[in-house]
Amino acid sequence: MKAKYWLLSLMLIVVVALAACSGGGDGEATDDTGSDEDTSETSGDSGESAGEGDGEVVELVYARGQDSTKASEMLIKEFNDSHPNINVTFREMPSDTGQQHDAYVTMLNAESSEIDVMDLDVVWPAEFAQAGYVLELDRFMQRDGVEASDYNQGAMSAAQFNGKQWAMPKFIDTGMLFYRTDLVEEGEVPQTWDELMTSASNIQSEGGAEFGYLMQAKQYEGLVCNAVEFIASYGGEILDENGDVAVNSPETVAGISKLVEVANADFVPGNINTFTEVESHTAFIEGQSPYIRNWPYQWNLANDEEQSEIVDKVGVAPLPAGDAGSAAALGGWMTAINKYSENKEEAWEFVKFMTGPEGQKISAINGGLAPTLPALFEDEEILEANPFFTQEGFQNALEGAVSRPVAPNYPEVSEVIQINVSKAIAGELTPEEAVAAMEEELNAVMQ
Ligand code: GLC
Repeated sequence: MKAKYWLLSLMLIVVVALAACSGGGDGEATDDTGSDEDTSETSGDSGESAGEGDGEVVELVYARGQDSTKASEMLIKEFNDSHPNINVTFREMPSDTGQQHDAYVTMLNAESSEIDVMDLDVVWPAEFAQAGYVLELDRFMQRDGVEASDYNQGAMSAAQFNGKQWAMPKFIDTGMLFYRTDLVEEGEVPQTWDELMTSASNIQSEGGAEFGYLMQAKQYEGLVCNAVEFIASYGGEILDENGDVAVNSPETVAGISKLVEVANADFVPGNINTFTEVESHTAFIEGQSPYIRNWPYQWNLANDEEQSEIVDKVGVAPLPAGDAGSAAALGGWMTAINKYSENKEEAWEFVKFMTGPEGQKISAINGGLAPTLPALFEDEEILEANPFFTQEGFQNALEGAVSRPVAPNYPEVSEVIQINVSKAIAGELTPEEAVAAMEEELNAVMQ
C-alpha cells in the first residue's frame, strides 16, 4: 500500500510540474491568440523591450540592396550580439534601386510578411506610405524618445508624408567627384565640366588609365541623378518651386547637352550606357580611371585593401561646375518596417538601432555613409575614417544638394526622365527634343 501511495504522489508531482512548464511558455507559443499586428499597435504602452524576457529568439529579415562595403554585415552582427532574443538575417536585393523597388512592390502588394525591415530610397516614402506598405513610426518614436530634431531636417522630411513618419533616415548621399591623387595634382582637380573633359582625355591619351571618366549612364534611377546634376549645374530644373513642370528651358538643354557630350566622349567606356554604381565603382577601384562621379561610399570602398587597387590614392571634390556652378543630386536611404511584418516590435528595435547614433556610426566607419545625425560629423572616429566629411566642398554639396521631384507616382516621373535622357545619349533625340518630350510627358504623369 505504501508503495502505491508513493507512486501516486510522484505522478501528481510530475503532472503539476508539466502543467507549470507549459503555462510558463504560453507568452510566445500561443501566438495566434492575439495577432502580431495588434500586439505591435498596442504594445507601445507595455514598456517592455522587444524580444526580451521570454527566452525565445525572434527571427527578423532585413532587406537592402547589395552592399559592397562591410557596413551591413557589421550592423547586423552588432545588433544580434547585443540583442540575444532577436536574430536578424540579411536578404540581398538587386543593387539597381529601380529593380529593388519593383521587387518590394511585388511582395508588398501580395501582403507578404517575408521581410520585416527594409531600406527605402529617398524617393520612395511618399509612394510606400500612400500604398500602405510601411508602418507609421510616430508612436514608436514618441514612446522611446527618438527626437526628430536630432536628425538632418531634409532627410527627415523626405521620410514624412501627410504629416507622419514612415521611415527613419539612415544615411544621406550626395554626388561627388572622386579622383586619383597619383594621376591628378591637388591644384589641378577640374573645376568645370570642360576642364574635366580636357583632363580626362589627356590622362587617357598619355596612358595614365584606360578611361578618363566614369559615371552612371544606364537607363535607371542613377541616370536621373546624373542628369539632375548636369541640369542644375547649367541652371535648369525639372519642376519649379511650385511643383510645376519647368524642364523646357535653354538651361536644361545646356545641361543635357553636356551630359550627352560627356557620355559619348572617347574617354568613357564604350558601354557606359550599361553602367550603374556597381560597374563604375568596380572599374574605379581596379584603377581604370582617374575620375568617377559617385556617392560617398566610394571613398570607403576605394580604400578597402581587400577589394581595391587604389588604396590611399583617392581624393574627393565637388562635381565640376557648369555655367551656373557645381550641383550635386540628393540621394540617401532610410529604413522602414513592412506593414505586414509579424514582428513589428522587434523590427522597430532594429530600425532604432540601425538609424540611431550607434548604428549610423557603424555605417559611417565601415561603409563610408554620411550620417543623418549632424552630431556625428563631429565624431573623431568617423572623421578619421572619412576625412573628406570635414571638407567645405562636401558640406556645401550636402547642404545644397538638389532633390528629385517628390511624388507618390515617382516611378512614372523617373521613367519619363530616364527614357528621354537615354534617347538623347543614344542620339535618337536631340537635347532640345528630349527636353520637349519630357515636358509633355511629365505634364501628363504629374496630373
Ligand atoms: C544612391 C542614392 C539613391 C539613388 C541611387 C541611384 O543609392 O542614395 O538615392 O536613387 O543611388 O542609383
